[in-house]
Amino acid sequence: MFCACHSPWKRLVILAAAFATLAWLSASPVWAQTPAGYAPAGWDAGVKLAETPDINPDPNIVEVNITARLAEVEVAPGKKVNAWTYNGSLPGPFIRAKVGNRLIVHFVNELNDPTTIHWHGVRLPIEMDGVPVISQPPVKKGESFTYDFVLRDASLFWYHPHVMSAQQVGYGLYGALLVEDPADGIGVADELTLVLSDIGFDSKGTLEDSESGGSAGMVFGREGGYVLVNGRTKPTLKARSGAPQRWRIVNTAKSRFFYLDLDGQDFLVIGQDGGLQATPTKSNILLITPGERMDVIVAPKGTPGSQITLRAMLYNRGYGSIEYRSVEEVMTIDFSAEPTLAKVTLPSPSRTIVPPKAEGATPVAMVLTLPPQEAGHSEFRINGVPYWKATPFKAALGETQLWTIKNDTDWDHPFHLHGYFFMPVDEKGVPIAPATWKDTLNIPMKTTAHMLVTFDDRPGTWMIHCHILDHAEGGLMGTVHVGPGPATEHAHPAPKKP
Ligand code: C2O
Ligand code: CU
Repeated sequence: MFCACHSPWKRLVILAAAFATLAWLSASPVWAQTPAGYAPAGWDAGVKLAETPDINPDPNIVEVNITARLAEVEVAPGKKVNAWTYNGSLPGPFIRAKVGNRLIVHFVNELNDPTTIHWHGVRLPIEMDGVPVISQPPVKKGESFTYDFVLRDASLFWYHPHVMSAQQVGYGLYGALLVEDPADGIGVADELTLVLSDIGFDSKGTLEDSESGGSAGMVFGREGGYVLVNGRTKPTLKARSGAPQRWRIVNTAKSRFFYLDLDGQDFLVIGQDGGLQATPTKSNILLITPGERMDVIVAPKGTPGSQITLRAMLYNRGYGSIEYRSVEEVMTIDFSAEPTLAKVTLPSPSRTIVPPKAEGATPVAMVLTLPPQEAGHSEFRINGVPYWKATPFKAALGETQLWTIKNDTDWDHPFHLHGYFFMPVDEKGVPIAPATWKDTLNIPMKTTAHMLVTFDDRPGTWMIHCHILDHAEGGLMGTVHVGPGPATEHAHPAPKKP
């Protein structure tokens, strides 16, 4: 019997409530979740990101304080490292906002070294881009800077320094910035942001030298020995078998590629760097190269009470990346005792994306090379020059360009453009399906990539570089000057020769 009550009035109320529930159920797609989702209590406690209070009562403004400082952080029980942090946590505080919000960040530098914050992927004015000299002077010890801009796109972004980036990011300076679209209609209540990274330190908790291995280390791209998910090694996530979860993932490692395998199960990719893609794609392996973001829905399945492991498989991004290397265990999925959720249909969000026009687009060609060593020293080059000898590429406001980037080296390069999204296309300029907005695209060794980009109303000198930050520091960096007037010199000194 449904109801133990005897009064007809009470029965009526209960009936009305039941009808309301039914109406809600039928109005929602089959996969609709209860507002609380399906995940067991405390499911994400092992991967909680540090946060920082929004000090502004205006619902349209997110205002936070971020201080760069040294702090001891524990990445695994008993494994402590003296890291470079934002607000003492690794990763730095997780910033959440809604699309259209204004973000204000009061930044203070308490490190001994100068630094800045770059807002990776965010379409902001050049003054807020965090590039030393071009956007702002580097923030020296004891100094501060206020970042203030509007978040015009919904997606997962991230922030990190743009001074000695290979060192500073590798030492722990990075954090996630999630810009949500409350109307995206995805409807998966169990949501998680996963910051994948790595860090290298010794038994005393001292950070590994960011210049280790010299020029060869630069060419390989140095990886840290500890693989981290939200700052922890191999954390545990609880799940109900078969229940959908939305994972927004960013790879903030300075060199490491993450090639993820969820016990052979599917990842439904619904979006990438610049928000939702045109249609979802399904795959049982997921590559996320440094700087990239993936918005995926998973519905991990297993015997109730058992575990599966999210692994990072070997991926050949060039010599040194698979030799003597092994598969890494990234995260444990711990299934609750509840029975597997039956009949789950995953959402299939689509987005209308109007690609930039290939017709009439200005062709721009780039060739990435790594000439043979001279005097034990290697440098990466774009069109024959490392960044310290480069002159800017040029674009007019509103101009669409078709970039053809030939990777003539034996290493992959996740190519990043500041301040603008581009669209990967084929050699004829046709978007590679499904259409998606990127700001970081891996260009595998000995291959050529094509992309369309429209430079809108934001003039300035914008950086391009490989997001293997060792490669960037080793020469694979340049600028594109958008709009009238002379380019701002990117006063980035050449690395010291050995
Ligand atoms: Cu993550 Cu120059 O960028
Ligand atoms: Cu590279």
